[in-house]
Amino acid sequence: MTTAAPSPKANMGEPAPRVDARLKVTGEALYPSDFPVSNPAFAALATSPIAKGHIVKIDLAVARKVPGVLDILTYENTSELQQIPYAGGGGGASTSMQRPGPAIGHDGQIVALIVAETFEAAQEASYKIEITYAAETPTATFGASGPTEDEISKASRPPQKMPHKGDVEAALKEADVTIDAEYGTPTQHHNPIELFTTTCEWSDGHLTIYEPSQFVYGLKNSMAHVFAINPDHVHVVSPYVGGAFGSKSQCTPRSALVALAAKRLNRPVKLVATRDQGFTIATYRAETRHHIRLGAQKDGKLVAYSHQGFEISSQPDNYAVAGIDDSAHLYAFGAVGTDVQIIHADRNTPGFMRSPPMLPYIYALESAMDEMAVKLGMDPVEFRRINDTDVDPVSGRPFSSRSLMKCFDQAAEAFGWKARNPQPKSMRKGDWLVGLGCATAAYPTHMGVATARVRFLAAGDIIVQTAAHELGTGAYTVIGQCAAERLGVPLAKVRVYLGDSNLPPAIVAGGSSTTASVCSAVLKSCDAIRARLVDAAIGASGGPLSGREAKDLTFADGKIRSADGSEENIHDVFGRLGSGAIEEYAEFVPNGLKPDAVAKLYAGQAALAGGSKGEKLMYAMGAEFVEVHIHAMTHELRVPRIVGAFAAGHIMNTRTARSQLMGGMIWGISSALHEATEIDRKRARYINDNLADYLIPVNADVDAVEVILVSEEDTYVNPAGVKGLGELGNVGTAAAIANAVYHATGVRLRQLPIRMENLLGA
Ligand code: MOS
Repeated sequence: MTTAAPSPKANMGEPAPRVDARLKVTGEALYPSDFPVSNPAFAALATSPIAKGHIVKIDLAVARKVPGVLDILTYENTSELQQIPYAGGGGGASTSMQRPGPAIGHDGQIVALIVAETFEAAQEASYKIEITYAAETPTATFGASGPTEDEISKASRPPQKMPHKGDVEAALKEADVTIDAEYGTPTQHHNPIELFTTTCEWSDGHLTIYEPSQFVYGLKNSMAHVFAINPDHVHVVSPYVGGAFGSKSQCTPRSALVALAAKRLNRPVKLVATRDQGFTIATYRAETRHHIRLGAQKDGKLVAYSHQGFEISSQPDNYAVAGIDDSAHLYAFGAVGTDVQIIHADRNTPGFMRSPPMLPYIYALESAMDEMAVKLGMDPVEFRRINDTDVDPVSGRPFSSRSLMKCFDQAAEAFGWKARNPQPKSMRKGDWLVGLGCATAAYPTHMGVATARVRFLAAGDIIVQTAAHELGTGAYTVIGQCAAERLGVPLAKVRVYLGDSNLPPAIVAGGSSTTASVCSAVLKSCDAIRARLVDAAIGASGGPLSGREAKDLTFADGKIRSADGSEENIHDVFGRLGSGAIEEYAEFVPNGLKPDAVAKLYAGQAALAGGSKGEKLMYAMGAEFVEVHIHAMTHELRVPRIVGAFAAGHIMNTRTARSQLMGGMIWGISSALHEATEIDRKRARYINDNLADYLIPVNADVDAVEVILVSEEDTYVNPAGVKGLGELGNVGTAAAIANAVYHATGVRLRQLPIRMENLLGA
């Protein structure tokens, strides 16, 4: 699917430019809705204007009269669709509210799919469907100052285990210094630039789905379930995804309706949902609340960490981000007590959104850490050093590697942290108050099952096939680099095929697991190919490498080389084998998953190992430092400088890694200062559901962003030595900015985003 740009630096770790960059900027890269299908009909969605209640009556007469309308699907004519079980993670459905009525569980729920000869006709008809609703008063979100008693009584516990160690209440009582504070994060929507699209085509009972997906095997198996057909009769095509960030990891209700419409019309049907529909027909990051208490001795040693989290989910589903699984292991806390409650509101079901667990929980913890450092009169970096640990404070298990303080030291040096006057409101540049702040970033090293088929041709070309996903992160490039390096050919000789359910399966592109998992499978396939070539080279009598030890051989420049300097062209070794190509298929199963995880992956079920699970804790870490300027009169808030240092094991490609980390920090600026989906509390409705009103940082909001890659070697995590870093960059940014705002103004703001109006009086 890609043409590789020639690069002299193709090896793992080198900053190879993206092999698909040219295709993307020239429009040649086909995103799912770009695939040409013959004579498509076009679909539009009608969605519910109420958040709670039910449909009383549907009148389609006027809508059907719109010229070009072919079919209208509602709950009254779609009962043949099987429900897919809701999955909190991995495959399955993004929500259990899949039917287009009559029950209405959230605003913007799909109530009809209209198919017409043109998109415009479908859209017009969608406005002319007349539906009578019986509306009830919805619950939109938390009460104004935290969840009310009534909401708490409706809360449920997430499935995760809550980490506990010792007696946290007693430890808090005995502590010299304590912090007791509440923090909040807002609702956020992914808003990938590529909209939520689905194109379906049937042929002889076989369904082809063109849909951007972070998990093509999940979508394939879910859709097979919906139509009660053999999964092998479903083909999902998604070679490029135009941004996903978690929103395209599960099967959403639209896909079944599009497929059913295509089946009924016996004609391809294409849906491109609108931007505002994307806010309610897929998942999002729900708002959270945190009650944190920290206890420390006068010398800065932490003795207690209590974290109570509150998260919003939908009525039927108990989605929770599980951030406590990570925050509870971050420092040498002493006693630990944690709890999470899910508050069920009349909303669409939330789901993964970039750094799902870490972003809210680490924001809250890292804010509290800063408050504690201030109260102790201690430098925040030194405070974290005192509480750094090589073992899990809860269980005593070791970290596989941990470079947190190395990151802090390198970032602090580059940032010039030494010049900071710790006194709040003490630094100034003209009319601008200057604030310097820092925070920890951490992300669990996740791995899942991945399989790959690699074909090595005598001419030195490599074909890599795996149903991994390219979300814009550079997957084609790093996977290609892996094979190129292992088999000793330039990257330009590698063709990588991804994002297609006819390829061998790979883990959901979630939890920053792709590089570690998929590269491990590709390396395994390459090693099997190498073994066969090495056998042929050393086993042949009279050959230049005959009789050599396998361990003395390396693959480079299209040759197999021996430590003694002799070498043989790959092409000639193929000649000895009497074949033009070698193909190997390999399965990578990470530590912590059972062998049946492979069969489950084929069946569309994803499981992740790593992070806080297993014998050792595996985490990528970082430290982020920011400078904020706040205008003394207008309170305009700028971020002129941000420096992040990150350690994530072996870096496969320094260029794509840097891009991910930089993008993550920019998103962190967004989380801290801009982003929030506003909710109409009366109607449980999203207000700013478009890119004009949903604030994100523009170029003028982002100044100097520096990424430092801190070297770290970890041979334990996986054969590639890789810790995923796609989601690491934006974990610490929001807290670092909030901490810098405190330093600039002396005002502690504990609810994101921080905007000008929150600083009035500062
Ligand atoms: Mo990412 S939010 O784990 O898809």
